[in-house]
Amino acid sequence: MAHLLHVDSSALSVGSVSKEVADTFRKAWQEAHPGGTITHRDLGLQPVPALAEAGIHAEFVPADQHSPEQAAAYALRHELVAEVLAADTYLLTVPMYNWGIPSTFKAWLDQIILSGRTLTFDGKPPLGGRPATVVLAYGGGYDPGAPREGWDFVQPYLGTVLGKALGLDLTVIKTQLTLAERNPAMADLIPAAKELRAAAHVAAQSHARELASRFSG
Ligand SMILES: Cc1cc2nc3c(=O)[nH]c(=O)nc-3n(C[C@H](O)[C@H](O)[C@H](O)COP(=O)(O)O)c2cc1C
Repeated sequence: MAHLLHVDSSALSVGSVSKEVADTFRKAWQEAHPGGTITHRDLGLQPVPALAEAGIHAEFVPADQHSPEQAAAYALRHELVAEVLAADTYLLTVPMYNWGIPSTFKAWLDQIILSGRTLTFDGKPPLGGRPATVVLAYGGGYDPGAPREGWDFVQPYLGTVLGKALGLDLTVIKTQLTLAERNPAMADLIPAAKELRAAAHVAAQSHARELASRFSG
């Protein structure tokens, strides 16, 4: 049965563009998979802890010798990994924060990227080929020719980690200039921002439908 893992990382509970676009994807996905399962994790509202010493050491210490801190860190990490492995498709939303990914999303990645479970260095990666739709939201614009072209460390990083290291089949849906309506210096970009946002919703809906048809036939 279809199982979508939806992970959000905007800190905003209201007014998040990436969450709005994800909502469009999700609705289309649900229409196509009425009996499907959705597991939702909102890292903005409920961040997972940063991977710390106890969690790192716990992997190398037999379970019956874990300290209480190691046992707790190990249990959480393996719960998160199991959640990832249980899904067959992914919806990940990632805003740009200070030209990179939010620390909450990095903490989640550090927890779920685990050698021997989700990451292998030979053969097919455990998540290899599973579709992942990644919704990115940028306050500014980073396309070729933009003043800050080359400052985007979100998409290249996620392409490497999710696509190359984990082997996910990535589709990126981007919306840029999301701050245009709030930043007077960007006022002339408002029409372009509206177009980009509308296009992201269209892309989210059509990609969810395309995925459904790919997997049903
Ligand atoms: C802490 C923080 C840092 C941000 N840093 C950047 C940045 O470096 N570049 C940029 O274009 N936008 C930046 N923004 C704007 C967000 O990328 C933009 O508001 C985006 O829409 C956030 O996603 P969301 O709407 O899903 O919350 C930042 C926003 C916050 C809250």
